[in-house]
Amino acid sequence: MVLEKFSLEGQVGIVTGGGQGLGKTFCHAFADAGADIVVAEVNAETGSVTAEEIEAKGRQALFVKTDVKNQDSVNAMVEQALGTFGKIDFLMNNAGIVQHLEAEKVEAADWRNVLEVNLTGVFFCSQAVGRHMIARQQGRIINIASMSGLIVNYPQAQVSYNASKAAVIHLTKSLAAEWASHNIRVNAIAPGYMNTAMARPFFDDPEYGGVWIKAIPMGRPGEPKELGPVAVFLASEASSYMTGATVVVDGGYTIW
Ligand SMILES: NC(=O)c1ccc[n+]([C@@H]2O[C@H](COP(=O)([O-])OP(=O)(O)OC[C@H]3O[C@@H](n4cnc5c(N)ncnc54)[C@H](O)[C@@H]3O)[C@@H](O)[C@H]2O)c1
Repeated sequence: MVLEKFSLEGQVGIVTGGGQGLGKTFCHAFADAGADIVVAEVNAETGSVTAEEIEAKGRQALFVKTDVKNQDSVNAMVEQALGTFGKIDFLMNNAGIVQHLEAEKVEAADWRNVLEVNLTGVFFCSQAVGRHMIARQQGRIINIASMSGLIVNYPQAQVSYNASKAAVIHLTKSLAAEWASHNIRVNAIAPGYMNTAMARPFFDDPEYGGVWIKAIPMGRPGEPKELGPVAVFLASEASSYMTGATVVVDGGYTIW
């Protein structure tokens, strides 16, 4: 039956940045599809709450305080996940940050921080989990890119974010090419403006909000729960012939 292909029953997945926003929604979506979840989050307070919520719905969950830009922290998280669950079936690289600032004003430290979280963090996590997946000859990785990796947003300036997300899309293709022979599929999701803490304040801002809404053919921001089924699709057998792809979920923003 076709719906069985979407099941994650008996599987274990890691979600980075699972303490709030899209990451929390992904943790719930994967758990609803049957998976046990490792919440790899830098914020101990929000990360442990998500883990408790997952356990409350009858799945196993492990919170591990993790800074994705720190390779030692990432490797320790993967060790702990393997120590608890013995395997990792899929990895969702979701943690990300943004800085809105004109290019000529961006400080070196802020440039590096955005690139380190959004791009290097995706690489460190993929590499650490990828080694385990190569040994098992199976696995799926889903990277959260952004429509900002395909277009340049306006009116806000966000050069480091845009560059980092474009790089995530190509990192996805590079890993997909290298690891296809190991039966590891690597895909990305490129969301448009979603109703989370990252974007919500700007929708309320008269300078941004109105401009953003007019640029979205569907005329509204996306709700985090509208991404959950896409993530389950990419984590499951339902997408068995997909790799290196970027699925755009943006209410039509990139059409215009
Ligand atoms: N909200 C949007 O409109 C939108 C659109 C496109 C893409 N995205 C992407 O989706 C992802 C999630 O965004 P969101 O809107 O839920 O943001 P958010 O700010 O609500 O949540 C991000 C989470 O990542 C965690 N995090 C930040 N730095 C970390 C680090 N170094 N190590 C581990 N965890 C860390 C934060 O603590 C937080 O829990 C990001 O990659 C973002 O770029 C968001």
